[in-house]
Amino acid sequence: MIFTGSHILSVEQFDRPDIERIFQVADAMQPYALRRKVTRVLEGAILGNMFFEPSTRTRISFGCAFNLLGGEVRETTGFESSAIAKGESLYDTARVLSGFSDVICMRHPAEGSVAEFAEASRVPVLNGGDGANEHPSQALLDLYTIRKELASKNRGIDGLRIALIGDLKHGRTVHSLCKLMRLFKNVHITLVSPAELAMPEHIVDDMRSAGHTVAVTEDLTQSITNVDIAYSTRIQEERFASKAEADTYRGRFRLNQSIYTQYCEPNTVIMHPLPRDSRAEANELDNDLNQNPNLAIFRQADNGVLVRMALFALVLDVVDQVDKYARDVNWYNSARTL
Ligand code: CP
Repeated sequence: MIFTGSHILSVEQFDRPDIERIFQVADAMQPYALRRKVTRVLEGAILGNMFFEPSTRTRISFGCAFNLLGGEVRETTGFESSAIAKGESLYDTARVLSGFSDVICMRHPAEGSVAEFAEASRVPVLNGGDGANEHPSQALLDLYTIRKELASKNRGIDGLRIALIGDLKHGRTVHSLCKLMRLFKNVHITLVSPAELAMPEHIVDDMRSAGHTVAVTEDLTQSITNVDIAYSTRIQEERFASKAEADTYRGRFRLNQSIYTQYCEPNTVIMHPLPRDSRAEANELDNDLNQNPNLAIFRQADNGVLVRMALFALVLDVVDQVDKYARDVNWYNSARTL
């Protein structure tokens, strides 16, 4: 694809060379994310960060990524602090905010809303999650993390064995990740969820059409015995009619150190897009895994900054100028690693 000036709305926009290009640029962003160097390449540029659903990682890491490239960030969070609460349309909001910004990131609870917004925008729009539909930058950082974690074992993404666990019906991260994995070869995917929260059939069909092996099960322990990656997800409470309904699914796919030790191959990598639900009743991904070196969830979140820097650099066409506007940092910098 041509990145310059493009909206990033769905992972379906990418082919495999696009993914390699994004990852190559993300790798080149490491000195800046690690604060070894500072670049001002986007000095004068403004990111409009519009998040109409709660977010910690996506909103802040898009903002940090833009700041690390030298740009400024202006934000609105929640409908109540936006004129949408007064009845303003997405069309009008997009026309107005794209006059103020050079690029916009947006999260919205309705599927397709970010694409609708992008149609009216005069600047590129990056989808930060639209309902249960897609979360493209998350899928890119997930795949980037998988690539990095497997590289240390001399493995690539082709031939990957992965279990996706939890609420696969509403989880937009796993929808986007499955679509991305279609670009690779011979992937073995085990989908672990209650039948009511199964991965949408069209996504399963598309993975099988791409030549991948797809198994569907409700049995966690069997599904994690033979995988490189165990990717857990949260029950997406906000997509259910009531908390009580969501509660009926909690704890069915609990992963803790004891289960990991008993069932997983040594060095199986544990991933989760986060937030993990750490309330006692959630029983999702236990804190006793925190010292497990194969728990990649925080490395995964860190990688989000690199991938989002890469997306900005590509969409705003400054990849070749990032180093030209760089200098050393002149302040104390703790031993940050990625
Ligand atoms: N993974 C993710 O989208 O996290 P946030 O909801 O905190 O942005």
